[in-house]
Amino acid sequence: MTRRFPDYFLWGAATASYQIEGAVAEDGRSESVWDRFCRIPGRVLNGDTGDVACDHYHRWRDDIRIMEDLGLSAYRFSVAWPRVVPEGRGPVNQAGLDFYDRLVDGLLETGIEPFLTLFHWDLPQCLEDEGGWRVRGTAHAFAEYAAAVESRLGDRVKHWLTLNEPWVVAHLGHRTGQHAPGLVNSGTEFDVIHHQLLGHGLAAQALRAGHAGSEIGIALNLEPKVARSDHPLDLDAAALEEGLMNRWFLDPVTGRGYPDDLRAVSGWPASVVVHGDLDVIAEPLDAVGLNYYRTEVVGHPGLRDCDRPAPLRNPPPEITEMGWPVTPSGLGEMLRMLDGYGFEAIYITENGAAFPDTTRDGGMVQDEDRRSYLERHLIEAAMAIGDGVPLRGYFAWTLLDNFEWSLGYSRRFGLIHVDHATQQRTPKASGHWYRDVIARNGI
Ligand code: FCB
Repeated sequence: MTRRFPDYFLWGAATASYQIEGAVAEDGRSESVWDRFCRIPGRVLNGDTGDVACDHYHRWRDDIRIMEDLGLSAYRFSVAWPRVVPEGRGPVNQAGLDFYDRLVDGLLETGIEPFLTLFHWDLPQCLEDEGGWRVRGTAHAFAEYAAAVESRLGDRVKHWLTLNEPWVVAHLGHRTGQHAPGLVNSGTEFDVIHHQLLGHGLAAQALRAGHAGSEIGIALNLEPKVARSDHPLDLDAAALEEGLMNRWFLDPVTGRGYPDDLRAVSGWPASVVVHGDLDVIAEPLDAVGLNYYRTEVVGHPGLRDCDRPAPLRNPPPEITEMGWPVTPSGLGEMLRMLDGYGFEAIYITENGAAFPDTTRDGGMVQDEDRRSYLERHLIEAAMAIGDGVPLRGYFAWTLLDNFEWSLGYSRRFGLIHVDHATQQRTPKASGHWYRDVIARNGI
């Protein structure tokens, strides 16, 4: 049986600047927090860096051709702030913008709709030196940068995403230290979220003041959390984790403020919140982007299994190379939750899986595991549309095997295999399959 998608449905792939561009010192780009982080011994697996990445900065024409072969109708990419405003704020580097100008023209000539993310984690290091997202000034600098990108590209780019996954920057960057800037237990993660969301609101206002008719959104990583058992402590722990990951972001951007129940347990003094901030953060959105990978089973850390009532809920046994369980039903759950918030347009802005890709047939990676992962998630997407969820498009993560943050080049998420020594790109079986899905507009 073929499940057809609506005619307006956009089929895309997503990428991020630092993960693919390389060319970190070209045309006036300044250092980003990820350039700095990669140089701290032991922080990134194998000492990998994004210095070259997929060399997309030079190979973008070939990469558009690959997108064309896949039949993509949309492409989500991010702009590197340090290319456009190398000092973080102030002078705009037109040479940096030239790259995105050419890319956008190339996409449009090919009939591919650009979806532009303004911030996918590569903060200019000079702003980090002034306190990064821990300080309010970065939110204002972000809005200035957003306005600069808009004034150059806003005549052609009609889909904008302000931030990518502010939860990750706050928690992995400022609590666990796995991501740049690598701070461990800094106690600043809620301030970092607040300043990012403030930056989001200010940037949304700046975008809206530019060209009319553009769609403005934010890309959030949202996850259902399943309690390990029905023990009240497990249920509370799961509800808390889910709230901090989902409602903590969705409520303020939709005008509901930070959830009172979570504020009470967060211990966050909220001393950085200034009167009027929540109104800025609530700048109306035209769309929301959902980055979905998995569902997590959460138990209260103080409970032992022998204290828990049966049945115990375990993570499903099927896991990706990230160690993430394969849980397609959570995608449907998150889509319905977003619908409940009343968003007019929802996009799945990321969804995909890393697998070792060791099975080859001739030159081609036979990634049946990835194909099956994508297919099962698309079935959930189709069912949600059938239920009336306003899902407008799907972006596979990701086009090319790339720099997977602290795991370097060791994890491959691409539809296209990249030989990192030669930069040769070869579609995987999943890429061929995705092309057929797009051609049929269905699965
Ligand atoms: C998301 C990120 C993206 C990529 C995938 C695997 O959290 O937005 O850049 O690393 O995970």
